[in-house]
Amino acid sequence: MRKGLFISLEGIDGSGKTTLIQYLQDQLAAYPLLSIREPGGTAISERIRELLLNVDNIQIYARTEAILYAAARCQVVDQLIRPALDEGKLVLADRYLDSTMAYQGYGRGLDLQFLSTLNQLCTRGLLPDATFLLDIAPEVCESRRQNEQADRLEKEGREFQARVREGYLQLARKEPQRFYVIDADRAIKDVAIDVWGHVQLLLSRRRWPALEN
Ligand code: TYD
Repeated sequence: MRKGLFISLEGIDGSGKTTLIQYLQDQLAAYPLLSIREPGGTAISERIRELLLNVDNIQIYARTEAILYAAARCQVVDQLIRPALDEGKLVLADRYLDSTMAYQGYGRGLDLQFLSTLNQLCTRGLLPDATFLLDIAPEVCESRRQNEQADRLEKEGREFQARVREGYLQLARKEPQRFYVIDADRAIKDVAIDVWGHVQLLLSRRRWPALEN
């Protein structure tokens, strides 16, 4: 068993992930924690993020997009995630390899086998111990996000987000032991308490002491 604990959070745009991460970071403040977001997290990955999310870059082909996400992930895995897990840290990832399957695979329609191989190569098989999927209908997210500026992916619209959501649910069905499907169409506080309950269980199963923040 690996020394650290690796948790990822997934969900369509506007599913409430950012607020949830902030809540978890507060709850876990006393633990040795590495919190990262994808794409991003290292200097190189942040540069790639800028390329990917810039609304002016409309000419990026779907496969280029997938490879850029994978490149950003490659850097984060080797530079940050693996060393943190080796040191026995808790790693909290705001998106990880399932985002590529859901967005570039189910959303854009790229070949799932190609993406799975790409993920396998860039992570060298590193999977999270647990993945929380915030499941919610795109219509609900849209109404939550009304006043925010949309990035390039968010501009794809409701049908795209609906395919991504369905993709995530399929991924969760394929790996029920890793995925926790969380109903995110609730007050964010209730969602956070629900997820935190699962995280506490994961920590206690690993015999990590309960630390006060
Ligand atoms: P971000 O602003 O971080 O959105 P969120 O807060 O919803 O996570 O932007 C990340 C965007 O990149 C988001 O629309 C999902 C997309 N994405 C992919 O399409 N493929 C990927 O592999 C990853 C990691 C993200």
